[in-house]
Amino acid sequence: MTPWTTKDIPPQTGRLAVVTGGTGGLGFEIALALACAGAEVVVAGRNSEKGSVAVERIQRAKPDGAVYFELLDLASLASVHAFAGRLNGKGKALDLLVNNAGVAASPTRRVTEDGFELQFGTNHLGHFALTGLLLPLLRRGASSRVVTMSSLGHRGGKINFDDLQGEKEYKPFAAYPQSKLANLLFALELQRRSDAGGWGIMSLAAHPGFARTELMANAGTSGIMAILNDLLAPFASHSAAEGALPALFAATSPDAVPMGYYGPGKMFEMKGPVAPAVIAKQAKDEAVARRLWEVSEKLTGVSFPAV
Ligand SMILES: NC(=O)c1ccc[n+]([C@@H]2O[C@H](COP(=O)([O-])OP(=O)(O)OC[C@H]3O[C@@H](n4cnc5c(N)ncnc54)[C@H](OP(=O)(O)O)[C@@H]3O)[C@@H](O)[C@H]2O)c1
Repeated sequence: MTPWTTKDIPPQTGRLAVVTGGTGGLGFEIALALACAGAEVVVAGRNSEKGSVAVERIQRAKPDGAVYFELLDLASLASVHAFAGRLNGKGKALDLLVNNAGVAASPTRRVTEDGFELQFGTNHLGHFALTGLLLPLLRRGASSRVVTMSSLGHRGGKINFDDLQGEKEYKPFAAYPQSKLANLLFALELQRRSDAGGWGIMSLAAHPGFARTELMANAGTSGIMAILNDLLAPFASHSAAEGALPALFAATSPDAVPMGYYGPGKMFEMKGPVAPAVIAKQAKDEAVARRLWEVSEKLTGVSFPAV
């Protein structure tokens, strides 16, 4: 089969998309490809200077496109509310939400503005709250989709309900996989709830394999992980544009299915053409997904409709 590329994206004209972390890395590539396919794209990020640069680059590639930046700091519930408030204020149906932004493996325990452990708070709780607050607009969209970015790392993850925020013991390489497992549990549970509640949205997940972005550098990773990263990168990684393809497939392909999880199909899913990805057993645990959902509602104060 011919590998799926951005040329296979169906026309997105008339569709409104929000891409979190659209200012850099995979998110920028996702925003760029969606805009080039005709979507109106909101590049959502925490850094307005990076936002302007990203928008300018996309406008150069698609001069007649509709793309703009909106401030969104997922490590601040106030910012998530403000962003969602502005979008809800415009009242336009939202056809696609790409929950992409993320931080990885902070060497020391850091917290969000609301006191959540940084990775759990940003990668999972921020997106959980954002999706809940944008649900009315998503429900208004025609065949709307929510795509949540997970990671190969979810396979090593465990939701530690006794110490979700790493307060008793913080281990960077447990906190990141936990947050990425939470992303996948959320994506699957969102589809179950949409089906049960008749919300009419399609929820999918993706992972980029091993893509060359700023993720590890931003994490300030050092020691064995940094060495491993540098050793593996030359042969096991691919570009950010290639790493963005599974999420773009999930976001746009008519062949993508509800609860589908997509990643690169070669080299233990680290690179290669888009293919269905392996979902670890713990990500399929519906009891854990329900419990995580309830805890996330309590922590964020954002409730989805009961089902
Ligand atoms: N690269 C990989 O190999 C890999 C592998 C598995 C999964 N992933 C996942 O892919 C996603 C994208 O990562 P990437 O590789 O593209 O990394 P990246 O180059 O570091 O980009 C991350 C993006 O997220 C944004 N971001 C971080 N914290 C944020 C916050 N509090 N609020 C709003 N935006 C925030 C960053 O904004 P700033 O520019 O302001 O920092 C940036 O735009 C993440 O969810 C990551 O876990 C990546």
